Amino acid sequence: MLDLRGKLRVGLVFGGRSGEHEVSVVSARSVARCLDPAKYDIVAMAIDRQGMWAAADVAQRILEESGDRADEVLAFSGEHRLDPRLLAGDVDVVMPILHGPFGEDGTIQGLCEMLDLPYTGCGVAASAVTMDKVLTKRLLRDAGLPVVPFVVVTREQWSGSLPQARGELSLPLFVKPARLGSSVGVSKVKSWEAVSPALELAFRFDDVVVVERGVPAREIEVAVLEGDPPVVSLPGEVVPGHEFYDYADKYLDNACKLLAPAPLSEEQVARVRELALEAFRACGCDAMARVDFLLDRESGVFYVNELNSIPGFTPISMYPRLLGLTGVPYPELLDRLIGLARSRHQKRRILAAAALQPLAERAASHS
Ligand SMILES: Nc1ncnc2c1ncn2[C@@H]1O[C@H](COP(=O)(O)OP(=O)(O)O)[C@@H](O)[C@H]1O
Ligand SMILES: [Mg+2]
Repeated sequence: MLDLRGKLRVGLVFGGRSGEHEVSVVSARSVARCLDPAKYDIVAMAIDRQGMWAAADVAQRILEESGDRADEVLAFSGEHRLDPRLLAGDVDVVMPILHGPFGEDGTIQGLCEMLDLPYTGCGVAASAVTMDKVLTKRLLRDAGLPVVPFVVVTREQWSGSLPQARGELSLPLFVKPARLGSSVGVSKVKSWEAVSPALELAFRFDDVVVVERGVPAREIEVAVLEGDPPVVSLPGEVVPGHEFYDYADKYLDNACKLLAPAPLSEEQVARVRELALEAFRACGCDAMARVDFLLDRESGVFYVNELNSIPGFTPISMYPRLLGLTGVPYPELLDRLIGLARSRHQKRRILAAAALQPLAERAASHS
């Protein structure tokens, strides 16, 4: 519902119970600056590191503080198990700008569905799938898309050694928790002796671990935005400053370089854009995702590495930058995400009503 001035109330949700809490705050500040004040009233909603929702004035203050770096974000404490304004339906659309578990993974999307509120970004299933590296790889593989060879190890199966992988994989390996992000718990392994400690580390963060072939790779990223037709951006490239794109590289020391656009041939650009849209569809995405690739320097193959359903939205983040390069400026990107949220909500209402119709008819014929 519009307020008296015709503005939409956007519940901007940020912070959260994940390793990317601070990045989320920085992303949300950037979103808040780019939401057109003539069209939107921002309702700040902040979740602390323990999962508690902050009071309205605290959330507002956190959002308004300056600081575009993760290490400039101050800690805060929440006081509600759920923001009362959400429960009361006091927003017109929810915009979760949360990265990682408890936000990017279908949880807040499910909450919004239960509250019957429109929300930006992918739906429940695609959010959950893209957070899970194993489910993602299986869906991509099923769609015939190139993924690096991998084996899955569950805590129950793990006996301290990895005999099955020796036949299927060759060194170096990458060992990763299935459902995390920001490279936490990810190791590059160069000898079979180092596999056990890497698995132990990954099992600290998840019950399911992926072991995959390490590719001598360039890291290429493509932004996809739903629409008719969908926007598939020019590719960008991350040049890690460390041995791989690890946590320090992403958030601490700025040693990595982001190239937008990526220096690729015309054919490579066409190929990776095509793969990005196929990967987006294969995972059931219906709003936005950043699709990350590993481009094998030796074979030239583009492997789909992962999809991020709520990519970074900081001023230097790849997702908004790549869309900007491709003709969708940041404020328009936000308008489009909000428009998609509202139209999906409308469609789901119509479908839900249609599903109830036969029941109503049956009830009427029985009375
Ligand atoms: N199979 C691989 N071959 C080479 N590098 C890899 C591979 N898998 C991951 N990496 C490196 O590790 C980083 C983090 O892995 P990624 O799968 O993207 O996990 P996260 O969800 O934590 O970002 C990647 O950006 C890349 O630098
Ligand atoms: Mg990644």
